[in-house]
Order: sequence, then structure tokens, then C-alpha cells
Amino acid sequence: MERVVYTKAGGLETIGLEPVKETEPKPEMVRVRVHRAGINFADLMMRQGLYGAAPDFPFTPGYEASGEISAIGEGVEGLEIGQRVLAMTGFGGYSQSVEIEAGRAIPLPDSMSFDAAAGLGVTYGTAYHMLVYLGNLQAGDSVLIHHAAGGVGTAAAQICLAYGATNLIGTASSTKKEFVESLGMRFVDKDSEDFVQVCKKMTGGKGVNQAIDPVGGSHLLRSYKALCSGGKLHCFGASSAISGSKRSMFSALKMWRSTPKFDPLKMMNSNKAVFGVHMGRLGDESIFASHLQALSAMLEKGQIEPIIDSVWPYRKVADAQQHMHDRKNRGKILLDFS
Ligand SMILES: NC(=O)c1ccc[n+]([C@@H]2O[C@H](COP(=O)([O-])OP(=O)(O)OC[C@H]3O[C@@H](n4cnc5c(N)ncnc54)[C@H](OP(=O)(O)O)[C@@H]3O)[C@@H](O)[C@H]2O)c1
Repeated sequence: MERVVYTKAGGLETIGLEPVKETEPKPEMVRVRVHRAGINFADLMMRQGLYGAAPDFPFTPGYEASGEISAIGEGVEGLEIGQRVLAMTGFGGYSQSVEIEAGRAIPLPDSMSFDAAAGLGVTYGTAYHMLVYLGNLQAGDSVLIHHAAGGVGTAAAQICLAYGATNLIGTASSTKKEFVESLGMRFVDKDSEDFVQVCKKMTGGKGVNQAIDPVGGSHLLRSYKALCSGGKLHCFGASSAISGSKRSMFSALKMWRSTPKFDPLKMMNSNKAVFGVHMGRLGDESIFASHLQALSAMLEKGQIEPIIDSVWPYRKVADAQQHMHDRKNRGKILLDFS
């Protein structure tokens, strides 16, 4: 058994592999034999040492994995060996075998594949949390989605359509126009078009009901300007801090220095809200669990279906991450640990 390890902060050359020593799970824990692990943008940031919530190096990344329970610790109820689960690992999911608290192993319905399960947790959970739980998404709403072709972006578009949102505006690189349009969004080329103008134009000058912004820095202010009265902005990332597979402190500093300070009085006068969202710091795991329950039901009804860009053998993890650095993914990237 092997797992991926980030040896120190830096580029792709800092990624290594190490053996996993399996022991009997501690009480209230289960061991999962992993089939698929999801790659998230945050994994790139933490490899570069730009992610505050990450453990100290060396560590194994990976928020989510799907697989089968291979051993059960004392006191665990309701789970059995061989059961197919989604493991919300927190960290450590990039591994052939991982031990987690039993409550973080979510049983999968027979109809859900390991690919769909590993593509559902973080991306759909985050999109649902912002748009539905915080944002009170309604039929007829208009929504601005950045990174529209990525993991969270594709999930957000599907959730919006399932709730009857009508005006979806999605920004991405120019090569993704057809893909973004196929998801029901008005495509905006992030490098050559003004998304604020497009949002205003598509809503008769009012602006959109919600905007989800993972770019950060001064980009947040433009997303805020795209909102209507009563609109909500979700700040949930800082992708502008990353300029490639090597760490650039210049990009990180530029993002941080250009981050706006929202003034509550101005927000009051314009009837707009700003949410900060960090799914790793919800503090109440039952919130995320209930999102996953709602999403499983939507998946079973065919309202959502994770879009898998590609599945890479785990030993090719550096190539898989380079694929994301190169902005080539359309949907979710997975690692194969089976
Ligand atoms: N706060 C939370 O709890 C939370 C949870 C999940 C995700 N997130 C954030 O949501 C965003 C999306 O996450 P994801 O995992 O679904 O990733 P993703 O959107 O699939 O990420 C890859 C895509 O991001 C776009 N991108 C923008 N800036 C980039 C850069 N500097 N380097 C490489 N690609 C860049 C590229 O597409 P285009 O350039 O074509 O748009 C690329 O294809 C990330 O910022 C992530 O940190 C936050």
C-alpha cells in the first residue's frame, strides 16, 4: 500500500510516495481501501504552502475519497467490512488506504459509482452550501459563476438549473466556450469580456442575485458590482494567488494586497451581502452531512451528475495536478488508487 506525500512547500517535484503501514483501526475509527480520490484546487495551494488550514509538511493531502471499508474499530455501529463509502478524510485521501472517524464514512447507494462519489463531496457540497443553504436559491434567480468549467463551477451550474435559476453567467478561459454553454450558462471569456456588463445586460440592468467568486483579490469587487439589490456575494477562494505550478510569493502578495475591505454602511445602503465560505471550518459537521444527503437525493433523481474530466493513476499525481495548473480540466479530476 502506498500514499502520496507533500514533502515540503514548492512545485510538483516536492510530491513523493511512501508506504502505508496498516494497523488495526482505533476505537470509533474505520479503515477505507480507497478506489478514487478527488483533486481540489486547494491541493495545489497547500502544496505551494499557501493554504492556512493545511497541516505541517510532510503530509498527505486529499479531502475526499471513495472506496470500501476494510477494517472496523471498536464501538463502530452501522458500518460493515466491504461497505462502499465516501470518505470525507479532511486530509490524507491521496492514499490506497486511510483511517478515518466512522462518522466521516458516508455509505453509498448501490447506484452511485466510485467516480461519482469522489466527484460529489467537496465541489457539490461547497456549491450547495453557498447557493442553497446561505443563498436561498430560488426559481428565476440569476447567478454569476466563476471558474465555470471547473469542479465547483460545473456543480454550481447543475444545482442552479435543478432549482430553476434562469440566468446563469459563467466565466472561464476562451477554449471552454462550448463546454460552458453546454452546461446552460451564458459564457463570458474571463480575459476579454467584462462580466459585470454582461450580468447587468442579462438582468435588465438590475444585476444578479448571487455571485460565487473563488478568484479573490480585486476580482471580488467586480463580482460585488455585478449584484442586484438584495444580492449575495460568496468569497470562497484565492486562485489569483497561484500563477503556475511553482510558488510565486509575488502573486500571493498581490492577491492579498488587492483584497477589498467591504464597508458595512455601503453594504447597507446598497442592500448587498458578502459571505466568506470555508467548508473546512464549518465547525458543525452535521451541516455538511445534511448537504450530502440532499445532494445524494438529487443525484438519484438525475438532477445532478458529477462531470469527471479525467481519472489518473495515483503515481501520475504530478501530471494530474499540472493538468489543473494548465487550466485544462472540464469538471473534476480524480486519482485512481484501486
Ligand atoms: N472555500 C471553500 O471551502 C472551497 C471549497 C472548494 C473549492 N474552493 C475554491 O473554489 C475554486 C474552485 O475549486 P475546484 O477544486 O473546483 O477547482 P477548479 O475550478 O476545477 O480549478 C481549476 C480551474 O480554475 C481556473 N483557474 C483560475 N485561476 C487559476 C490559476 N491561477 N491556476 C490554475 N487554474 C486557475 C481554471 O479554469 P479557467 O481559467 O478556464 O476558469 C482551471 O481549469 C478554487 O479557488 C478553490 O480553492 C473553495
